[in-house]
Amino acid sequence: MNIVVIGAQWGDEGKGKLIDVLSRDTDITVRYQGGSNAGHTVVVGQAVYVFHLLPSAILHQGKQCVIGNGVVVDPKALLGEIQGLAKRGISVTPQRLKISDRCHIVMPYHRILDGLRESKRKNKIGTTGRGIGPCYADKATRCGIRMIDLINPQVLKAKLEDNLREKNEIFKKVYGRGHFPFKAVYQEYLKYGKKLQPYVCDTALYLNQCIDKKKSILFEGAQGTFLDIDFGTYPFVTSSNSIVGGVCTGSGVSPTKIDKAIACAKAYTTRVGEGPFPTEFRAGLKEEIRKKGNEFGSTTGRPRRCGWFDNVLVRYAAIINGISELAIMKLDVLDELEEIKICTAYRYKGRIYKDFPTDFEVFSHAKPVYETMKGWKTPISHIRHYADLPPNAKKYIRRLEHLLKVRIKYISNGVKRDQIIFR
Ligand code: IMO
Ligand code: MG
Repeated sequence: MNIVVIGAQWGDEGKGKLIDVLSRDTDITVRYQGGSNAGHTVVVGQAVYVFHLLPSAILHQGKQCVIGNGVVVDPKALLGEIQGLAKRGISVTPQRLKISDRCHIVMPYHRILDGLRESKRKNKIGTTGRGIGPCYADKATRCGIRMIDLINPQVLKAKLEDNLREKNEIFKKVYGRGHFPFKAVYQEYLKYGKKLQPYVCDTALYLNQCIDKKKSILFEGAQGTFLDIDFGTYPFVTSSNSIVGGVCTGSGVSPTKIDKAIACAKAYTTRVGEGPFPTEFRAGLKEEIRKKGNEFGSTTGRPRRCGWFDNVLVRYAAIINGISELAIMKLDVLDELEEIKICTAYRYKGRIYKDFPTDFEVFSHAKPVYETMKGWKTPISHIRHYADLPPNAKKYIRRLEHLLKVRIKYISNGVKRDQIIFR
């Protein structure tokens, strides 16, 4: 069985936790897009692990992990993550981790450009500053440096010289900034190449061989549907395809080999960074939920914006990702609320929109149409069986299921591994 887990909102839906749970029953976990902009949190006992590039299943010693070709890899960040785990007693050997030779490399000039471009923009995106956009841009402009190039000194030299010639002019003439010296960058990245070489292979071949041997694969999406470059709230999106479609291009596994897509959604909505957010809470509730849900970005530490569950968005995500099962995360965060709202449509200039509108003007001014439900006002974090949930919590789940037309199979009610209800 080959399964994809994606985010149905704006990221941070709890994909890391769900992957950690599901990967006990699968053989290989694969990241297929995004880069170190992702922050996937797994809590084991008192220990908190946050993964940016490594698949969240890396904590399971017997399991394999793959970083697919669609991921943009910052080698310094990746080596840092591997070393960080080693210090905590978890060894990431080349037997357990495979990195695609086709991954594009995030270079230091990408990180700098990310910040500089943002500073020139009138409408800021609020990027994570990890160089993701500029790296994917170089991939598309065909001047990117790939993992395979890092381990070939001649090719790296030629490509880096070419890139620095152009980038250094841009830095100087457009941004009035100093230049990147070739030698220092070259030597640093050659060193990374040497360290990463044992992990590097053609992961598309590897994964397809595993599929032939009937091994099961879990594809770990990063970001969320509304950060997808094609289907998200453009231009306030990331630079990759975070929807299910990204699996095929980002891993080299055909759609005919994928059996199931599971979406992860919070019981409410959050967003980090800029961009419209129709159901965003007003002050007061925003702080309350942020505090209760510990809603701070796991990559940048920025406070996350919080709001009500937006069915218009999640229903659209269910459609374009072909979702057959849904996981509702952090239901316990709503425990104390008197009433809970669900946005079922938007209103703009007298018109009602039941489907996610493409027109930016409509979406950015959309007023949510809400349905209000009674809260359960009881702690639920200790509950392990659906039947034991308070009636109003069950009503909320069933209402979401009805509106989304998708079965809610997992309900997470706390940060810990065992705080999840299988239905
Ligand atoms: P995970 O995988 C939430 C957001 C940024 C910004 C926009 C573009 O943990 O769910 P980028 O650095 O990608 O160019 O930033 O996307 N963003 C995320 N928001 N969770 C993430 O990842 C995100 N990755 C990027 O805040 O608004
Ligand atoms: Mg995150």
